[in-house]
Amino acid sequence: MTNWQVYKRLLGYLKPLWFVFALSILGNAIFAMASALMAAAMEPVVEAIQNPTQSYRALVPLLIIGVFALRGLGFFLGTYYIAVVARNIVKAMRQQLFDRMLTLPCRFYDQNSAGHLVSRITFNVEQVTGAATNAVTIAVREGLTVMFLLGYMFYTNWKLTLIFLSVGPIIGLVVSYASKRFRRLSKGIQHSMGDITQVASEAINGYRVVRTFGGEAYESERFHAVVEKNLVQGMKLALTKSLNTPVVQLLISLSIAGLVWIALAPEIIGDMTVGEFIAYITATTTIAKPVRQLTEINAIIQRGIAAANDVFDHLDQEPEEDQGVIDVERVKGEIDIRQVRFRYAPDSDDVLHDINLHIPAGKTVALVGRSGSGKSTLVNLIPRFYDYTSGEILLDGKLLKDYRLASLRNQIALVNQQVTLFNDTIANNIAYGARDRYTEEQIRQAAEAAHAMEFIEALPDGLDTLVGDNGMRLSGGQRQRLAIARALLKDAPILILDEATSALDTQSERYIQDALEAVMKGRTTLVIAHRLSTIENADMIVVMDKGRIVETGTHQELLQKNGHYAALHQMQFRDE
Ligand SMILES: Nc1ncnc2c1ncn2[C@@H]1O[C@H](COP(=O)(O)OP(=O)(O)O)[C@@H](O)[C@H]1O
Ligand SMILES: [Mg+2]
Repeated sequence: MTNWQVYKRLLGYLKPLWFVFALSILGNAIFAMASALMAAAMEPVVEAIQNPTQSYRALVPLLIIGVFALRGLGFFLGTYYIAVVARNIVKAMRQQLFDRMLTLPCRFYDQNSAGHLVSRITFNVEQVTGAATNAVTIAVREGLTVMFLLGYMFYTNWKLTLIFLSVGPIIGLVVSYASKRFRRLSKGIQHSMGDITQVASEAINGYRVVRTFGGEAYESERFHAVVEKNLVQGMKLALTKSLNTPVVQLLISLSIAGLVWIALAPEIIGDMTVGEFIAYITATTTIAKPVRQLTEINAIIQRGIAAANDVFDHLDQEPEEDQGVIDVERVKGEIDIRQVRFRYAPDSDDVLHDINLHIPAGKTVALVGRSGSGKSTLVNLIPRFYDYTSGEILLDGKLLKDYRLASLRNQIALVNQQVTLFNDTIANNIAYGARDRYTEEQIRQAAEAAHAMEFIEALPDGLDTLVGDNGMRLSGGQRQRLAIARALLKDAPILILDEATSALDTQSERYIQDALEAVMKGRTTLVIAHRLSTIENADMIVVMDKGRIVETGTHQELLQKNGHYAALHQMQFRDE
């Protein structure tokens, strides 16, 4: 995106807030005017001192109050209403980012760390609006202040102002050179600090090696060298730091002195009064700060654009593909996987090769195989967490892609190894996403079937107990039982259990096994089990290895075959 496109997009956020924004611009304009008036006010004040008449005595204090009141009003309008704009834009961006996140494919989550995503929503958004509103405030407030002051200066003495304008930039350059040099040095000192930590930590962490290999002299020499360098940098920094302020002030005093000297030339000062002269000098000193702020505006804008690009990039991510139109109430559950290949990224290797698997409706298929053989990957294709690279998968004879995504996922209950619980009550966690669809009794039954009721009843508030952040207060096995209860309650025609009982001890697993077998009846079930004893009754066992199906059959058939499955079985049998 070009900078201009970013601006235009940011302006889009301003549209609904244009009135508030206009108020803040107005406030900044008032503030700028009052700042210029403050310098100009020196003129009547000096006149009043020279000519202490009664009317001056009454007017000048009023003038002072008036100027400050005006400036205060401008400051309030400018600061408050730009904050209203900023807070509202932050809110809108956060909502958009979050809602977009909910539609993004799994692939996106694989590629972006959670910390990064969260910081985008919390931090980057603030950066964008902070920079944008700062830039606007500075441009309007300081820009107008400079213009008003210059206008006043031209008005009082245009010749002097022309001279001022031609000398001003030179002073500015000298000042900015001094501060840039200062910044470069401080970067140098950061670098040499890095060297110090590097050498020191190597020697500290590797002290055994240093001692046993007699590296003391070498390390000492190395460390002394970097510390020496740091000393030189530090001295340079201290020198510029202590020279910076007096030099800059001297420069400014020189230029004001020069200005005064020039101004005092009879052909320049003309008929300037004392008041005008003092007001003029006040204006020239007042103008320095807003000018400096205006020179920093570019850096602020650049920072804001970088953050905005990041936010807009996120908003422009393609959501999950959802072109399907079929809406089903309840599928029968026949799954047909034909010649399916899959890879996680276009430039990576295939993780699944030529998978062919037909699962009749209502049957149970167990997937077994070493870890990394592609079992989870295969079952994740059914809810379309990922789209296969080639081949096809049919559900009830229709392509997965032809179903509306929400409708497809509604047919599937999934339990996997990483149980996610929300910081809510147990009941709401079991009925997640559809709390008003179920009665408490239904939730209780699901919890009972998953053998979760036993521990839920022991909790202080039973089903209404809060589970804490991601169920921190529950054990792994308890969490897994809640996840199973959640799946049972959903009562979907397709059930996917990806190592759903891995966190349970053998005893609890046996219990749940009975419950699960009862629910598997009449449902198409894909079960990945780490303990082979739990899948002996499956209608079909599929053995996977390196992304291929290497064997299929029933428990008995596969044992007789004496191949991969028999070997796996042998191994587990020996372990137990
Ligand atoms: N999100 C992912 N991105 C890239 N590669 C992945 C991802 N998930 C799994 N893999 C890779 O795919 C292969 C199969 O993994 P997986 O299906 O989880 O195996 P299993 O469930 O059989 O242990 C492994 O080599 C794994 O490294
Ligand atoms: Mg797995």
